[in-house]
Amino acid sequence: MRILVTASCSEGLVLPLVPIAWALRSAGHEVLVAAPENMAKVVVEAGLPYVRSAAAVEMPEVLSVDRDGEPVPMPREEAALLRHIGRGYARLALRLIDGLRDIAKRWRPDLIVSETYGFAGPLLAAELGIPWIEQGMRLVSPPSISQSGADELAPELKELGLSDLPSPLLSLDLCPPGIRGADGGPAQKMRFVPYNGRASGLPDWVHERRDKPRLCLTFGTRVPLNRSPIKGGFSLLEQLMHRLPELGVEVVVAVSDEVSGNFTKLPGGVRVAGQLPLNQILPGCDLIVHHGGVGTTLTALALGVPQVTVPVIAEVWESARLLVASGAGRQVPFIGATADGIFDACAAILGEPSYRRNAGRLREEIAALPSPADVVRRIEEL
Ligand code: TYD
Repeated sequence: MRILVTASCSEGLVLPLVPIAWALRSAGHEVLVAAPENMAKVVVEAGLPYVRSAAAVEMPEVLSVDRDGEPVPMPREEAALLRHIGRGYARLALRLIDGLRDIAKRWRPDLIVSETYGFAGPLLAAELGIPWIEQGMRLVSPPSISQSGADELAPELKELGLSDLPSPLLSLDLCPPGIRGADGGPAQKMRFVPYNGRASGLPDWVHERRDKPRLCLTFGTRVPLNRSPIKGGFSLLEQLMHRLPELGVEVVVAVSDEVSGNFTKLPGGVRVAGQLPLNQILPGCDLIVHHGGVGTTLTALALGVPQVTVPVIAEVWESARLLVASGAGRQVPFIGATADGIFDACAAILGEPSYRRNAGRLREEIAALPSPADVVRRIEEL
């Protein structure tokens, strides 16, 4: 088969597609990953063939203006925020669809793979009359985001004689059953295989025994650069770098060099990792504090590391609640979060072994799920 992976505009949404793309390639299928220009490096470094679907694009900008370029205010309340996000993802699809249509004309895919809110994938599938496969990435994908996306795309769908986006041939679900059971419908649980970007020149300490508990602190690729719709991430990160060593732990800060260049002074007990892949760092960590990003949450779960999530964007708020309910972590909502509140959540986890046990149980559950290679065999049978 010729399989077009239509990817979005952030590392968080591109990296989790890499294992299924690899598995499809390893099974002998032709795979092409189409993404906006700012994701070219991420795809190429993953060893996958890349084609440009659009110029560089960032979600905060897409969210902030409507189709006519008029400003869209950001709502405050959760249900309204989810609708706002759904409409934003739909406008992102509209930025990508022309480029994807041209790629499809030249390359003629048989199948499309897209993440749940990558609406350009199903829209293109509908235009071409071919099936698409959805990969879920959040622990739960709020359906109101998809509904609002379809509402925003109503004019395009109407032109195709449709009232909704086409259903996927198969939905891949990365959430372990201990956090959320199957949703019903054409869903297939799949093992999350952590891939967090290129690992080059790992420093020795990554694989050496630690003499103190180690805490990984990361706010992902967008939040510390204020490239998230909600600002203030860099300042909270800096406060945490100063406060968390008081727990008696070594703090490893996972940020890009672009971010670490802005740190004024490094407190004692803090190591700046310089965007090392989390799957290399986390096996040597006792706890992770993060911003609720999908890739970070899943990587910590797959590696059995307890989490303090400080969820920033509303699309992961429900996932954060599920994580807390699983007993593998705590949450401190980003809006209103203080370094003291996060410190207390960390202290509670480090002082209570059940968090590590629950995280270990979920790691085993994830390891027992069908691998991407197993899922490719199922796709071939459909
Ligand atoms: P994600 O957690 O979804 O958050 P966001 O989209 O807000 O960035 O994705 C971030 C990905 O980048 C995730 O796979 C982890 C990886 N990452 C590292 O592995 N090391 C790092 O130092 C940073 C900053 C990110």
